[in-house]
Amino acid sequence: MNPTLLAIESSCDETSASVIQNGQVLSNIVATQAIHEQYGGVVPELASRAHQQNIIPVVSQALQKANIAKSQLDAVAFTRGPGLLGALLVGCSFAKSFALGLNLPLIEVNHMQAHILAHFIDDPKPNFPFLCLTVSGGHTQIVLVRSHLDMQVLGQTTDDAVGEAFDKSAKLLGLPYPGGPMLDKLAATGDPNRFQFPIVNMDGYDFSFSGIKTSILNFVKKNSAAEADFVQNNLADICASIQWALIQTLMKKLVLAAKDLGIKEIAIAGGVSANSGLRATLQEYAQKHGWNIYIPAFEYCTDNAAMIAMAAHFQYLAGDFTTQYASPDPRLKV
Ligand code: KG4
Ligand code: ZN
Repeated sequence: MNPTLLAIESSCDETSASVIQNGQVLSNIVATQAIHEQYGGVVPELASRAHQQNIIPVVSQALQKANIAKSQLDAVAFTRGPGLLGALLVGCSFAKSFALGLNLPLIEVNHMQAHILAHFIDDPKPNFPFLCLTVSGGHTQIVLVRSHLDMQVLGQTTDDAVGEAFDKSAKLLGLPYPGGPMLDKLAATGDPNRFQFPIVNMDGYDFSFSGIKTSILNFVKKNSAAEADFVQNNLADICASIQWALIQTLMKKLVLAAKDLGIKEIAIAGGVSANSGLRATLQEYAQKHGWNIYIPAFEYCTDNAAMIAMAAHFQYLAGDFTTQYASPDPRLKV
């Protein structure tokens, strides 16, 4: 089998389309929605409308860049969930109409599985079984990956996702949206040991990130009362200290799971895997624990359709198709 597939991603604020042929990504077009910046976060209704505007040009560009005609496609894939319902509906409806018009089979993809399968786009590829720390704006999970399509969540956040913690911390420091990448940049020149923020230890492999938000709020209030420009004057050190606490919280559980299961193949995935502190820390731990680590290329960390295409490729080979009755599931589980 040598399938040529079109994949569509529209779960949050990125409209993306990708063409994959026999497991090789030929194009990956991503339209980021700038409209949300002025609101300091993603506004679901505006995301849906922007997806509607973007989807046709994004799909056309993906086919054009790949130099693939619609008649060459073997199937159409879309993100079924998890994500924002209205945003998912745009991708799902478009994929269904496109498939109906061309009489093509449909493949529904789980966005969180796809983040993990982004590791199979380029070399080196992880060996099974491996552990993946999936860290995004909506999820924080440690997943045991037994094969391309057999995954088990071992632990996850009980409240906020770590990406959310990055974004909310940045907001409390007065940084513009999206705060995660900005906090990362500022942290690079700061001292991570200057201030202490909580490293919450939950049972098993679970996480909690809501406490750190409250502690930052109290920290900002207390210090700003004593010195009006405190945050501005110490921004790099504050960012570095927050980032350090968030990364330590993640690494503690990852080390525990790796030890308990005796697994040394370790991957990270999702938007927060673009964080330079997390990437550097993982390199350090690889040395210390003898891990083989897998860090995605930047373009495959945040939301993109190439990862949806990669997942669809494996599902196509497994004969895992859906029907025109498919509908989005905002809370779809791994
Ligand atoms: O995977 P993703 O693009 O979308 C979701 O599925 O949620 O992840 C987005 C999240 C946001 O919270 C964003 O702030 C965070 O990933 N992020 C980062 C960095 N780049 C993206 N967080 C920390 N450091 C970064 N460099
Ligand atoms: Zn994502």
